[in-house]
Amino acid sequence: MSVTVSSPDLMTRTASLYDRVKSVIPSIEWPAFAEDIDAILRLKRERDAVILAHNYQTPEIFHCVADIVGDSLALAREAAKTDAAMIVLAGVHFMAETAKLLNPEKRVLIPDLRAGCSLAESITAADVRLLRERYPGVPIVTYVNTSAVVKAESDICCTSGNAKKIVESLGVPKVIMLPDEYLAQNIARETGVEIITWAGHCEVHERFSAKDVQQLRAGHPGVVVLAHPECPPDVVAVADFAGSTAAMIDYVAERQPSRVVLMTECSMSDNVAVQHPKVEFIRPCNLCPHMKRISLSKIRRSLETLTHEVTIDPAVAPPARRAVERMLAI
Ligand code: 13P
Ligand code: SF4
Repeated sequence: MSVTVSSPDLMTRTASLYDRVKSVIPSIEWPAFAEDIDAILRLKRERDAVILAHNYQTPEIFHCVADIVGDSLALAREAAKTDAAMIVLAGVHFMAETAKLLNPEKRVLIPDLRAGCSLAESITAADVRLLRERYPGVPIVTYVNTSAVVKAESDICCTSGNAKKIVESLGVPKVIMLPDEYLAQNIARETGVEIITWAGHCEVHERFSAKDVQQLRAGHPGVVVLAHPECPPDVVAVADFAGSTAAMIDYVAERQPSRVVLMTECSMSDNVAVQHPKVEFIRPCNLCPHMKRISLSKIRRSLETLTHEVTIDPAVAPPARRAVERMLAI
């Protein structure tokens, strides 16, 4: 039986959830979310499903239906641990593939198959093979923001949260790091390791400039600038701190800056602001159109219809899994 959005029962059942997000979701919008949230919570129980949501998901997903939230590294780690029968990945396709690689026996669903990533799109398995031929013996580190076929050609994966550690763990003077040119340049600067890069960029982070930071500092005295390492190196150079989305969240939680700007995707500030009402968030941000393909209604449909199931070519899965597992072991 369907429940109308104005049902008093529905409003009562979801009241404590609304309380969590009321600072970022106007009350007039809540009834439109409440029905899907209620249905998703029921479907999760019926299907024995968990929802893993990336930090860039909107607050009604992040705070109201997700079981686990985090950066790419945390989502991979948690995917490897879950006992649930089914995983719904509220994020982009490479994250769902990573979850599937770590859970070959489980059903992994992504609510919209078109949720891609400009970095994952920027490189093919054939490109990686050519690089290996060109630089024999040089280890290949692939960012998790790649397809499984690309991971399968690499030696080890990394995320923005562990890239420095992974590169240093290899103990070599030179590595190939694909496909994010800016992340690779930022890590080369941090580690002193020579890094051969690929000209892939995140379409969200490449739009930030050092001039933006300068203007933000001029317009908002005392603002603390946190940048994601997918930003160009000149942005990272003038930021106060650079780190993965989880590292940015930890920075705000631990240091409680009175005023902060997160040079990253828009939903991050909303999600973090909910937990830190005393911190003022300055919000120039760039939307990720891929992350924004995921919505409550699509998550609900995904659980109702068991779509879209993520599958990985059995010839590709073992070497791709090895690259991810090597990363997780470090
Ligand atoms: P992290 O959350 O791992 O820092 O990655 C950011 C990102 O762009 C994911 O798409
Ligand atoms: Fe890809 Fe950038 Fe979107 Fe992350 S934010 S999914 S790296 S395009």
